[in-house]
Amino acid sequence: MPRRFLYYSNVLVRLLPEEDYPIYLEALAEALPIEVAATDATGRVIVWNEALAQAAGRRDDAVGRPLLEAMPWLTEDPNLDWAAVVDEVLAGGPARTFARHPLGPRVVRATIGPMRGQGGQVLGSVLSLEDITRGAREEERKRRRERADAVHDLGASLAHEIRNPLNALKLNLQLLQELLGDPSITKDDIHARTEKMIAESQRLERLVQHLLEVSRDGTLQLAPAHVDPLVEAVVAELEGVARASRCRVEFAPGSARELLLDPPRIERAAHNLVRNAIEAAAEGGGHVWITTRDDPHSTVIVVDDDGPGIRAEDRSNVFVLYTTGKRGGTGLGLPLAREDVRRHGGEIEALPRPGGGARFVVHLPPPGQAGDGVRVEV
Ligand SMILES: Nc1ncnc2c1ncn2[C@@H]1O[C@H](COP(=O)(O)OP(=O)(O)O)[C@@H](O)[C@H]1O
Ligand SMILES: [Mg+2]
Repeated sequence: MPRRFLYYSNVLVRLLPEEDYPIYLEALAEALPIEVAATDATGRVIVWNEALAQAAGRRDDAVGRPLLEAMPWLTEDPNLDWAAVVDEVLAGGPARTFARHPLGPRVVRATIGPMRGQGGQVLGSVLSLEDITRGAREEERKRRRERADAVHDLGASLAHEIRNPLNALKLNLQLLQELLGDPSITKDDIHARTEKMIAESQRLERLVQHLLEVSRDGTLQLAPAHVDPLVEAVVAELEGVARASRCRVEFAPGSARELLLDPPRIERAAHNLVRNAIEAAAEGGGHVWITTRDDPHSTVIVVDDDGPGIRAEDRSNVFVLYTTGKRGGTGLGLPLAREDVRRHGGEIEALPRPGGGARFVVHLPPPGQAGDGVRVEV
């Protein structure tokens, strides 16, 4: 029979006297950080390296015994019939790897395959176990942490988004209560208040609807729309809030372009900007100015206020999740607004207002350059 050289035999033949191979191979097996066992053709252990001895018991107790007797925990593996796997390998079946296999309290990467002689006949099997318990646990912990973070983010954003209309609702109820104490109150006055409260309830309802959509599918629902009516609606929604802080909100509509928008999202973004502007505007009689216009490359919404403005070094921070300078603030308004606008292919910038205060500019791309949405025909 011709002598069939394997790669290592080939090299070693040139380097070493043949009778020294086993010593070198044994030294190699011993030096490996992974656990290695080998059996003869009948399945009895002939190699049991140092790493395996550390993890699974003394070599002297293992060598010469059937593999599964030397590793009783393999027999108790609820996920895999190791006896069948060993039989298959000894019958010349292919090598198999289990990339992430739970084994008792450990997680291992296990490989088992046939060991073949010069003529290709099966001489036995080689099993290697790499303990990845720590890495696997770390991965699991990371996944669990990410899930918890996502739930936390969603909880916080829900709280924020629900609080705005809820506040407005409460404010209008308080105003209504005051009105009711006034003997000169008319039905029209009451009607005007309740209309506002109905509008806020509808906003809550839309929000819940929107959240349902988001949780189902994150894509935008794009439809042809104009920004002016959306901004108009936001100004109306926030009228009560503005009045409560004696802030004058002026809106000068100036856009005629039809865009492809997901209207609730743009309205939500505008709502957050206008609310922030009202909250920042000069105390005891501040001003908020909102304008829209169609520039050649984008339709622009500008929200100005005469508050303290934002320092240059803080201007990019205000978009970072949970960054808030307010007592009871959530730091979610601007990050969510930016996310919504960017999803449309647009951008929000924070600038100083000429003459003092803050300026937020929303750029929305013309149709054809809109964001990652699904187009809805209306
Ligand atoms: N118009 C503005 N003028 C001054 N500061 C602002 C303005 N808008 C936002 N900010 C700053 O950015 C922070 C983050 O805003 P936002 O994300 O809406 O969260 P929140 O309003 O809950 O604090 C605010 O707390 C405030 O410090
Ligand atoms: Mg805010």
